[in-house]
Amino acid sequence: MGKDNSSNAPARLPKHIAIIMDGNGRWAKKRLLPRTAGHKAGFNTFVDTVDYCNQHGIEVLTVYAFSSENWNRDEKEVAALMDLIGRGIKRYMPDLIEKNIQLHLIGDIERFAPDVRDILYKSRDRLAENTGMKLCICLSYGGRQEIVHAFNELAAEGKKEITAEDISAHLYTKGLPDPDLVIRTSGEYRISNFLLWQSAYAEYYFADVLWPDFGKKELEKALESYSKRERRFGR
Ligand code: FPP
Repeated sequence: MGKDNSSNAPARLPKHIAIIMDGNGRWAKKRLLPRTAGHKAGFNTFVDTVDYCNQHGIEVLTVYAFSSENWNRDEKEVAALMDLIGRGIKRYMPDLIEKNIQLHLIGDIERFAPDVRDILYKSRDRLAENTGMKLCICLSYGGRQEIVHAFNELAAEGKKEITAEDISAHLYTKGLPDPDLVIRTSGEYRISNFLLWQSAYAEYYFADVLWPDFGKKELEKALESYSKRERRFGR
């Protein structure tokens, strides 16, 4: 998708797109490949999606790369995902620098091994002054855990009366706009603990294709669907 620069993007685009990249394992299984091959293919789709969103002036792109629950997967798969996240981001850095992209890390990054953590923090800091698209990667992330974390911070500050603004300001996403469009691939109709607070007024789009197959055409279908919806925010 990255090399094809033609565009069928609708005029009204979301400012913030958030994606649950699901279906890597099934994609690999269908090809009799190990699950890790699916994650590798998924990383390539992630890179293409970043390119597309960046080229189309999307302000924020958030991706769910590793959930709090993913720690319970087979040890080998977790290790392979760690390796892919660490090495993948390192390899991708020159591109992110050239494209003026900012990196935000959303989740309990402290749970990662020091070497992966180091790559993540260094990459984020190196890109901090960039002024282009904000790329948010959710890692060791869970929406409920994030809300609990915010409440604990507020409790530690001695807050007695808590407002919605207080909560937003203590989430990992503080300072970022809420998502306008949440996409989930692989034909599953679940939220899976993703941006629970932030997605209160988001539009949802569920695609049947598996994440590695979610190319430009599929993304444009999601954008087209979004552009036709009338958002009322409960009014
Ligand atoms: C869900 O598919 C996908 C994941 C748990 C990993 C997603 C990670 C990537 C696409 C790599 C991107 C990395 C970065 C740093 C952005 P699944 O394994 O649950 O698939 P299944 O439901 O078919 O088994």
